Amino acid sequence: MRSSESLRFLVTAGPTREFLDPIRFISSRSSGKMGYALAEAARTVSPHVVLVSGPTMLTPPSAVDYVSVTTTQEMADAVLAQFGGCDVVIMVAAVCDFRPKQMALSKISKKAFHGVLELEPTVDILAELGRRKRSQTLVGFAAETDDLLANARTKLQQKNLDLIVANTTDAFESETNTVTLLFADGHTEQLPKLQKRDLAMAIIERVVKLRT
Ligand code: CTP
Repeated sequence: MRSSESLRFLVTAGPTREFLDPIRFISSRSSGKMGYALAEAARTVSPHVVLVSGPTMLTPPSAVDYVSVTTTQEMADAVLAQFGGCDVVIMVAAVCDFRPKQMALSKISKKAFHGVLELEPTVDILAELGRRKRSQTLVGFAAETDDLLANARTKLQQKNLDLIVANTTDAFESETNTVTLLFADGHTEQLPKLQKRDLAMAIIERVVKLRT
Protein backbone atom coordinates (compact mmCIF):
# COMPACT_ATOMS: atom_id res chain seq x y z
CA MET A 1 0.00 0.00 0.00
CA ARG A 2 1.27 3.48 -0.83
CA SER A 3 -0.24 6.91 -1.03
CA SER A 4 -1.03 8.46 -4.39
CA GLU A 5 1.51 11.29 -3.82
CA SER A 6 4.37 8.88 -4.36
CA LEU A 7 2.98 7.45 -7.62
CA ARG A 8 5.02 8.35 -10.72
CA PHE A 9 2.80 8.90 -13.75
CA LEU A 10 3.71 8.93 -17.42
CA VAL A 11 1.03 10.14 -19.84
CA THR A 12 1.28 10.27 -23.63
CA ALA A 13 -0.89 12.60 -25.68
CA GLY A 14 -1.64 13.90 -29.13
CA PRO A 15 -0.90 12.40 -32.51
CA THR A 16 2.43 11.32 -33.94
CA ARG A 17 3.53 12.27 -37.45
CA GLU A 18 5.29 10.22 -40.10
CA PHE A 19 6.87 12.21 -42.91
CA LEU A 20 6.74 11.49 -46.64
CA ASP A 21 9.05 14.38 -47.40
CA PRO A 22 10.17 17.51 -45.50
CA ILE A 23 6.70 19.11 -45.63
CA ARG A 24 4.15 16.29 -45.82
CA PHE A 25 3.16 13.77 -43.20
CA ILE A 26 0.61 11.10 -42.18
CA SER A 27 -1.06 11.72 -38.84
CA SER A 28 -4.43 11.54 -37.09
CA ARG A 29 -7.18 13.89 -35.92
CA SER A 30 -6.14 13.75 -32.26
CA SER A 31 -6.22 17.17 -30.51
CA GLY A 32 -4.33 16.00 -27.41
CA LYS A 33 -7.09 17.27 -25.09
CA MET A 34 -7.76 13.93 -23.36
CA GLY A 35 -4.07 13.31 -22.69
CA TYR A 36 -3.43 16.83 -21.39
CA ALA A 37 -6.52 16.57 -19.16
CA LEU A 38 -5.18 13.27 -17.80
CA ALA A 39 -1.76 14.77 -17.08
CA GLU A 40 -3.45 17.63 -15.20
CA ALA A 41 -5.69 15.21 -13.31
CA ALA A 42 -2.69 13.05 -12.38
CA ARG A 43 -0.97 16.20 -11.12
CA THR A 44 -3.78 16.76 -8.59
CA VAL A 45 -2.92 13.46 -6.89
CA SER A 46 0.86 13.34 -7.37
CA PRO A 47 3.74 15.77 -8.05
CA HIS A 48 5.42 13.18 -10.29
CA VAL A 49 3.92 13.51 -13.77
CA VAL A 50 5.70 13.27 -17.12
CA LEU A 51 3.75 14.21 -20.26
CA VAL A 52 5.16 12.94 -23.58
CA SER A 53 3.28 14.71 -26.33
CA GLY A 54 3.12 14.72 -30.08
CA PRO A 55 2.33 17.99 -31.89
CA THR A 56 -0.80 19.76 -30.57
CA MET A 57 -2.15 23.32 -30.31
CA LEU A 58 -2.31 23.04 -26.50
CA THR A 59 -0.18 24.69 -23.82
CA PRO A 60 1.53 22.06 -21.65
CA PRO A 61 0.33 22.05 -18.03
CA SER A 62 2.90 24.05 -16.05
CA ALA A 63 3.63 21.62 -13.25
CA VAL A 64 4.42 18.51 -15.29
CA ASP A 65 7.67 17.37 -16.89
CA TYR A 66 7.01 17.91 -20.57
CA VAL A 67 8.69 16.00 -23.40
CA SER A 68 7.88 17.05 -26.96
CA VAL A 69 8.10 14.43 -29.72
CA THR A 70 7.00 14.17 -33.33
CA THR A 71 7.33 10.65 -34.74
CA THR A 72 6.23 7.31 -33.30
CA GLN A 73 9.87 6.25 -32.89
CA GLU A 74 10.62 9.45 -30.93
CA MET A 75 7.62 8.78 -28.70
CA ALA A 76 8.74 5.17 -28.22
CA ASP A 77 12.27 6.29 -27.29
CA ALA A 78 10.99 8.89 -24.80
CA VAL A 79 8.51 6.48 -23.19
CA LEU A 80 10.93 3.55 -22.96
CA ALA A 81 13.59 5.82 -21.42
CA GLN A 82 11.13 6.76 -18.62
CA PHE A 83 9.43 3.39 -18.16
CA GLY A 84 11.73 1.91 -15.49
CA GLY A 85 11.02 4.87 -13.19
CA CYS A 86 7.22 4.83 -13.63
CA ASP A 87 4.37 3.35 -11.63
CA VAL A 88 1.53 4.21 -13.99
CA VAL A 89 1.64 4.68 -17.76
CA ILE A 90 -1.44 6.06 -19.52
CA MET A 91 -1.10 5.89 -23.31
CA VAL A 92 -3.66 8.26 -24.76
CA ALA A 93 -1.59 9.20 -27.80
CA ALA A 94 -3.08 8.43 -31.20
CA VAL A 95 0.09 6.77 -32.41
CA CYS A 96 0.66 6.47 -36.16
CA ASP A 97 0.71 2.73 -36.92
CA PHE A 98 2.41 3.12 -40.30
CA ARG A 99 5.14 5.24 -41.80
CA PRO A 100 6.35 5.73 -45.35
CA LYS A 101 9.01 3.13 -46.17
CA GLN A 102 11.24 5.96 -47.30
CA MET A 103 11.19 9.64 -46.50
CA ALA A 104 12.21 11.74 -49.49
CA LEU A 105 14.84 14.32 -48.59
CA SER A 106 13.37 16.84 -51.02
CA LYS A 107 9.74 17.77 -51.64
CA ILE A 108 8.10 15.14 -53.86
CA SER A 109 6.94 16.90 -57.00
CA LYS A 110 3.70 15.96 -58.75
CA LYS A 111 5.74 14.80 -61.73
CA ALA A 112 7.92 12.45 -59.64
CA PHE A 113 5.01 10.82 -57.74
CA HIS A 114 4.08 7.37 -59.08
CA GLY A 115 0.68 7.18 -57.33
CA VAL A 116 1.64 4.54 -54.73
CA LEU A 117 2.79 5.26 -51.20
CA GLU A 118 4.64 2.32 -49.64
CA LEU A 119 4.16 2.05 -45.88
CA GLU A 120 5.72 -0.05 -43.13
CA PRO A 121 4.51 -0.65 -39.56
CA THR A 122 5.86 1.46 -36.69
CA VAL A 123 6.59 0.08 -33.23
CA ASP A 124 3.56 -0.66 -31.02
CA ILE A 125 4.72 1.24 -27.94
CA LEU A 126 2.08 -0.05 -25.55
CA ALA A 127 2.55 -3.68 -26.61
CA GLU A 128 6.27 -3.28 -25.92
CA LEU A 129 5.50 -1.83 -22.47
CA GLY A 130 3.20 -4.81 -21.86
CA ARG A 131 6.11 -7.16 -22.59
CA ARG A 132 8.47 -5.22 -20.29
CA LYS A 133 5.95 -4.65 -17.50
CA ARG A 134 7.07 -5.46 -13.94
CA SER A 135 5.04 -3.65 -11.28
CA GLN A 136 3.73 -0.86 -13.50
CA THR A 137 0.05 -0.26 -14.10
CA LEU A 138 -0.63 0.10 -17.82
CA VAL A 139 -3.63 1.99 -19.16
CA GLY A 140 -4.50 2.14 -22.85
CA PHE A 141 -7.17 3.82 -24.92
CA ALA A 142 -9.01 2.01 -27.68
CA ALA A 143 -10.45 4.16 -30.44
CA GLU A 144 -12.89 2.09 -32.45
CA THR A 145 -15.39 2.62 -35.23
CA ASP A 146 -16.83 -0.95 -34.94
CA ASP A 147 -17.20 -3.67 -32.30
CA LEU A 148 -16.02 -1.28 -29.59
CA LEU A 149 -15.99 -3.54 -26.53
CA ALA A 150 -14.79 -6.74 -28.23
CA ASN A 151 -11.89 -4.94 -29.91
CA ALA A 152 -11.01 -3.10 -26.71
CA ARG A 153 -11.01 -6.37 -24.72
CA THR A 154 -8.67 -7.95 -27.30
CA LYS A 155 -6.25 -4.99 -27.01
CA LEU A 156 -6.40 -5.16 -23.19
CA GLN A 157 -5.33 -8.80 -23.30
CA GLN A 158 -2.85 -8.66 -26.19
CA LYS A 159 -1.02 -5.61 -24.78
CA ASN A 160 -1.04 -6.97 -21.19
CA LEU A 161 -2.89 -3.92 -19.81
CA ASP A 162 -4.55 -3.33 -16.44
CA LEU A 163 -7.23 -1.04 -17.82
CA ILE A 164 -8.40 0.04 -21.26
CA VAL A 165 -10.64 3.01 -21.95
CA ALA A 166 -12.90 2.20 -24.90
CA ASN A 167 -14.20 5.14 -26.89
CA THR A 168 -15.71 5.66 -30.28
CA THR A 169 -13.93 7.92 -32.72
CA ASP A 170 -16.55 10.64 -31.92
CA ALA A 171 -14.17 11.59 -29.09
CA PHE A 172 -11.60 12.94 -31.56
CA GLU A 173 -11.37 16.77 -31.51
CA SER A 174 -14.36 16.87 -29.11
CA GLU A 175 -14.69 18.51 -25.65
CA THR A 176 -16.58 15.48 -24.32
CA ASN A 177 -16.15 11.73 -24.34
CA THR A 178 -18.39 8.75 -23.50
CA VAL A 179 -16.35 5.71 -22.52
CA THR A 180 -16.46 2.23 -21.09
CA LEU A 181 -13.67 1.13 -18.78
CA LEU A 182 -12.56 -2.50 -19.15
CA PHE A 183 -10.38 -3.86 -16.36
CA ALA A 184 -8.00 -6.83 -16.50
CA ASP A 185 -10.03 -8.72 -13.88
CA GLY A 186 -12.97 -8.77 -16.32
CA HIS A 187 -15.21 -6.11 -14.83
CA THR A 188 -16.42 -3.18 -16.88
CA GLU A 189 -17.79 0.24 -16.02
CA GLN A 190 -19.80 2.43 -18.39
CA LEU A 191 -19.33 6.13 -17.63
CA PRO A 192 -21.82 8.83 -18.69
CA LYS A 193 -20.91 11.47 -21.31
CA LEU A 194 -18.42 13.72 -19.54
CA GLN A 195 -16.25 16.75 -20.23
CA LYS A 196 -12.73 15.47 -20.85
CA ARG A 197 -11.49 17.15 -17.66
CA ASP A 198 -14.09 15.33 -15.53
CA LEU A 199 -13.48 12.06 -17.33
CA ALA A 200 -9.75 12.44 -16.67
CA MET A 201 -10.40 12.79 -12.92
CA ALA A 202 -12.66 9.72 -13.00
CA ILE A 203 -9.97 7.66 -14.73
CA ILE A 204 -7.23 8.83 -12.35
CA GLU A 205 -9.45 7.91 -9.37
CA ARG A 206 -9.86 4.37 -10.75
CA VAL A 207 -6.11 4.05 -11.43
CA VAL A 208 -5.20 5.24 -7.92
CA LYS A 209 -7.63 2.68 -6.50
CA LEU A 210 -5.81 -0.07 -8.44
CA ARG A 211 -2.50 1.04 -6.89
CA THR A 212 -3.29 1.99 -3.29
N1 CTP B 1 -0.58 2.35 -29.33
C1 CTP B 1 0.79 2.36 -29.18
N2 CTP B 1 1.59 2.21 -30.28
C2 CTP B 1 1.05 2.06 -31.51
C3 CTP B 1 -0.35 2.06 -31.68
C4 CTP B 1 -1.14 2.22 -30.55
O1 CTP B 1 1.27 2.49 -28.05
N3 CTP B 1 1.86 1.93 -32.58
C5 CTP B 1 -1.45 2.49 -28.13
C6 CTP B 1 -2.38 3.69 -28.12
O2 CTP B 1 -1.78 4.82 -27.50
C7 CTP B 1 -3.58 3.17 -27.35
C8 CTP B 1 -3.60 1.68 -27.62
O3 CTP B 1 -2.27 1.35 -28.09
O4 CTP B 1 -3.44 3.34 -25.95
C9 CTP B 1 -4.62 1.23 -28.66
O5 CTP B 1 -4.47 2.03 -29.82
P1 CTP B 1 -5.46 1.88 -31.06
O6 CTP B 1 -5.06 2.89 -32.09
O7 CTP B 1 -6.89 1.85 -30.57
O8 CTP B 1 -5.18 0.41 -31.57
P2 CTP B 1 -3.98 -0.26 -32.34
O9 CTP B 1 -3.21 -1.06 -31.33
O10 CTP B 1 -3.24 0.74 -33.14
O11 CTP B 1 -4.76 -1.30 -33.28
P3 CTP B 1 -5.70 -1.02 -34.55
O12 CTP B 1 -5.06 0.11 -35.32
O13 CTP B 1 -5.68 -2.32 -35.27
O14 CTP B 1 -7.08 -0.66 -34.02
